[in-house]
Amino acid sequence: MNEYTLNTNEEPKRKGSILSAVRRLKPLLVSETVQIILAALAIVINSTLTLLGPVIIGHVIDTYIATRDFNGVLLYTGILTAMYCVGFVASYAQTRIMGGVSLRVLYRLRNSIFEKLQDLPVAFFQQNKAGDLISRINNDTDKLGQFFSQSIMQFIGNIFIIIGSAIAILLINFKLGLAALVPAALLLFLSKVLGPWIKRKNAINMKSVGGMSAEIQESLDHFKVVVAFDRRDYFRKSFQRTNEDNYHSAVRAGIANNTFTPVYGFASNLALLIVILYGFNLISASTFTFGLLISFLSYIYRLYDPLRQMAALWTTFQVALAGWDRIHAILQMNSNITILTDTEGVSRLHDKSHPEAVMEFSNVSFTYATDVTVLDKTNFVLDRGKTYALVGPTGGGKTTTASLMARLYDPVEGMVLLNGRDLRTFSAEERAENIGFILQEPFLFSGTVGDNIRYGNPKFATVDNTKLTEVLEQKDLQVVINKFDKGLDTIIENGGDSMSLGQKQLIAFMRALMRAPKLLILDEATANIDTVTEQLLEDILRKLPPETTKVIIAHRLNTIADADTIFFVNSGSIIEAGSMQKAVDLLMHGKRKS
Ligand SMILES: Nc1ncnc2c1ncn2[C@@H]1O[C@H](COP(=O)(O)OP(=O)(O)OP(=O)(O)O)[C@@H](O)[C@H]1O
Ligand SMILES: [Mg+2]
Repeated sequence: MNEYTLNTNEEPKRKGSILSAVRRLKPLLVSETVQIILAALAIVINSTLTLLGPVIIGHVIDTYIATRDFNGVLLYTGILTAMYCVGFVASYAQTRIMGGVSLRVLYRLRNSIFEKLQDLPVAFFQQNKAGDLISRINNDTDKLGQFFSQSIMQFIGNIFIIIGSAIAILLINFKLGLAALVPAALLLFLSKVLGPWIKRKNAINMKSVGGMSAEIQESLDHFKVVVAFDRRDYFRKSFQRTNEDNYHSAVRAGIANNTFTPVYGFASNLALLIVILYGFNLISASTFTFGLLISFLSYIYRLYDPLRQMAALWTTFQVALAGWDRIHAILQMNSNITILTDTEGVSRLHDKSHPEAVMEFSNVSFTYATDVTVLDKTNFVLDRGKTYALVGPTGGGKTTTASLMARLYDPVEGMVLLNGRDLRTFSAEERAENIGFILQEPFLFSGTVGDNIRYGNPKFATVDNTKLTEVLEQKDLQVVINKFDKGLDTIIENGGDSMSLGQKQLIAFMRALMRAPKLLILDEATANIDTVTEQLLEDILRKLPPETTKVIIAHRLNTIADADTIFFVNSGSIIEAGSMQKAVDLLMHGKRKS
């Protein structure tokens, strides 16, 4: 059941060539093909001009400077100036285009991750820390963005220049060229060997950044508990530890990322020395000219400098890939809240004993990711217009059962049916329209009480507070609204922190009732409300349309006195208790969880 746990493994999952790595990034770039081709063209023009420079200079030295032909020098200076100007424009165009590409990719990527997150089932959010997810959306996408804006074209340009320079020196003098390339070959070999290590260090560092956001989020989310139990020191220390881990992993990543820099400098100097010594011999033997030697040295510089940059670029590439792997892990998650087209189960319910069935649990088993089996092949039917009570010990599985009714989770086995159809075949709108669920821990959004009542209700989305008040009055909910200082305009701050638990429950109550659902589930919905108000709510519930089916979960037995049927939920089973007395008996002496 851990299908929704994101891979936080620091080992790179797939090894492979640059090409396969680039292929992995392809889906991000397909819509930018034209822009990328233009940018690549600009960088190729720029690189070609860069490559032509040394050979022209060599020619000018040997032909014009050697003969002191000032006009020739002037002519070529003009040509070189023109070339440098074109190079400047091409380089500017490339930067601009790729800047745009990068921002658009980032924008789309964040959108699609966020959309994906909206699509994922509740189980996903229980198995992954919000802080880590936020870090993936902010931090990892940023790394990718940097790669696209700054590195990718430089990467292409450098490859072009390196290959061009290598060809140029081999053409000028094959043997001298080969000798000058030896240090470069060693470098390539080294980077091949060290590449996976660098990527691993960076992946560890990213994971650590994610862990740090998760830690911050946890202590901020539960700050009151932290203060009440004087656990600030604990969190301080724990954060210090996480921060320290993060520091060390950043240092290690930094060391890995910078290993190459001095090695490259050394290799480049080595190549220069080889060329000077060997070149001196060639010139002494009159098989080489000064102009050629200067071109040659210039190409050596052109070859090794990008090689050195490639080390840094390669690092950003590895970092971007590690980030992309973490993002991709979210994007490729299969949402299991897919709507099935399967109509198996239709007409299952129309057996004679339950002609009025609204909901049926048919052999439903459910297990959490932690391997806690909460329901084990349970069967029961809810009839239209009836009131059901779910009772049972704490941790018995009442909330889980209710969550399955509202499809917050899908059963591991068996089927939940609404109106004779597999619940999984209903669209999200249809489902929300039919089922109203007041959660045990209601959640409010920042805004007003009115906003929260309208929340997710397309019928009232555009209705103003005056109109909404009228509708609430018709449903006898005015008394509830009066419990708030400013009625529907009462401000809710900080995601509901400014409300008492009872007030939250009242708002959740109105929110659910405004939908006039066919099936209304109340999970301890009045547990934190004073008895007088609770009485009011019960009256309101009684006046709901007669076809409304109600499922009430409560510990206070007086709350369920009205129930037609009482179900006892515990130890994986749901059994009809028959009477209130039997329910009490079961609660007192019933099966204990083994
Ligand atoms: N998100 C979760 N992940 C793993 N296990 C869970 C999760 N939620 C609940 N459980 C476990 O499932 C079992 C049933 O929990 P549930 O919330 O359904 O109980 P309940 O009957 O509603 O209890 P209460 O009366 O306290 O509200 C418990 O053993 C609980 O530890
Ligand atoms: Mg519960």
